[in-house]
Amino acid sequence: MASPVFIDHDYDVVVVGAGGAGLRATFGAVAEGLKTACLTKVFPTRSHTVAAQGGVGAALGNMAEDKWEWHMYDTVKGSDWLGDQDAIEYMCREAIPAVQELEHFGVPFSRTDDGKIYQRPFGGHMRNFGEAPVQRACAAADRTGHAILHTLYQQSLKYKAKFFIEFFTLDLIMEDGACRGVVAWNLDDGTLHRFRAHQTIMATGGYGRAYFSCTSAHTCTGDGNAMVARAGLPLQDMEFVQFHPTGIYGAGCLITEGARGEGGYLTNSEGERFMERYAPNAKDLASRDVVSRAMTMEIREGRGVGKDNDHIYLHLEHLGGDVLHKRLPGITETARVFSGVDATKDPIPVLPTVHYNMGGIPTNYMGEVINPTADDPDRIVPGLMAVGECASVSVHGANRLGTNSLLDLVVFGRAAAKRCAQTITPDTTHAPLPAGAGEAAVANLEWLRNAKGPRATSEIRLDLQKAMQTEAAVFRTAESLSEGVKRVDAIAETVADIKLADRSLVFNTDLVEALELQNLLACAKATVHSAEARTESRGAHAREDYPDRDDQTWMKHSLAWVEPETGAVTLDYRPVHTYTLTKDIEYIAPQKRVY
Ligand code: FUM
Repeated sequence: MASPVFIDHDYDVVVVGAGGAGLRATFGAVAEGLKTACLTKVFPTRSHTVAAQGGVGAALGNMAEDKWEWHMYDTVKGSDWLGDQDAIEYMCREAIPAVQELEHFGVPFSRTDDGKIYQRPFGGHMRNFGEAPVQRACAAADRTGHAILHTLYQQSLKYKAKFFIEFFTLDLIMEDGACRGVVAWNLDDGTLHRFRAHQTIMATGGYGRAYFSCTSAHTCTGDGNAMVARAGLPLQDMEFVQFHPTGIYGAGCLITEGARGEGGYLTNSEGERFMERYAPNAKDLASRDVVSRAMTMEIREGRGVGKDNDHIYLHLEHLGGDVLHKRLPGITETARVFSGVDATKDPIPVLPTVHYNMGGIPTNYMGEVINPTADDPDRIVPGLMAVGECASVSVHGANRLGTNSLLDLVVFGRAAAKRCAQTITPDTTHAPLPAGAGEAAVANLEWLRNAKGPRATSEIRLDLQKAMQTEAAVFRTAESLSEGVKRVDAIAETVADIKLADRSLVFNTDLVEALELQNLLACAKATVHSAEARTESRGAHAREDYPDRDDQTWMKHSLAWVEPETGAVTLDYRPVHTYTLTKDIEYIAPQKRVY
């Protein structure tokens, strides 16, 4: 193959991804005087942040007394003690100024009668260290992500941030263990580009599409995670995949937890409000892993609803049309379109559905990527950062609380921009790129583009999604996970048989999907291998054969390396941060997790 022709660009900072975290990092870096580019495979306002519904968490105390320390306690408990407490302290403290900042940026939050930001209860958010639910989710009706994403994009335009829209980033450019930038393909005209940067910030979101039924957009294919894995760096805590309790049965679309925050509740085929048995205190507002497991158990024990007894009902009809119209208009519409239900009259059929990846690229609380050694478990990768769902900071540990994702995006997007300002002198000259930089990524692109095997991308992807859905589900066992490892590894091999129909380089969505499939497979491999090894139950990782949390052996972060050439997965571990950031709050020691 002749050497590819690249168009070269130099920036202080390159951000990959234009969801909430990517946009906040982008205009934050511009505001710090750094020459910044944002590369995104979709138009910024189509990023998956737009789909977030119920709210962004912050202890504003607008509706009742609240404190960031209570928020921190809930987040540590929600994480099942796998979260790093220095990072959790940072996030929960910063939540208050971060939401005030959003308000000043122009986010159209819903309002209380006296004009304050409206806050609703959400799963696992409690007052006074676990006493009873508190109203902490700052909401723009049930379209909070939409409101935030559009506002952040408007801020980016205000700062005249430079966007490269519909650029598919192929790989990182690495040299001597440091990141030097990225190589990308412009979907619009087929040109290839290399971006040199002093800091490259991955903000590429999750990989929900590794599963058959998920609330994630089709674009959530773990691109950043896979690029990091191909660079020989580890992914962290990938076994922790969150199932949201209320995806619409059949369609998978999200029905916000805010629906239960407003007073909605779940029932089984006997009309019983079964959450009272599983979580006597928080009931339907227990954290997501707890509610998803309870629903799964009800269905397994024959108390599911519907003709196949395979789902659960979410009741909102008692709330009345006015409340639904004012507070939950989006999901009322979604229920009508995707399940044919008028939520003012009938219950919505729901099922736990894949929603969020707690695991991802390991970082510290400033967004710097970690590549641990035995001597230095927090060793930084020069030039590389990650924020948002693709990152594992780790503030969510083994289970994320609802509303802490929108929060994580804005807090750590901002933190990353600030860190760039501390570590980069604007407009410093770049060293030349290493010989052959970007060529391996283009060779892979060319191989895929010309692939003539017997299997379509969609067939291989469906195999993967079905395997993940069955073998790495809400409940897991040694058998299901070893089967998951075998199936996913075997499916990854079949990429050698892939067939593409479109051979062009211009808007070749066939090629985009094939690249995304490679990325999904890297994420799925890390997930099943890490899950098989973790012989305990913690947060979203519920092992029927190991039903208890085992802090003695397993209070540690999993690390998974996916070897780019062979696909072999190697595992190791790094300690959880059992210390806080400041002396203002003490380390919260592990306790039994009950709601
Ligand atoms: O239920 C929801 O509105 C989802 C929120 C979240 O994942 O944070």
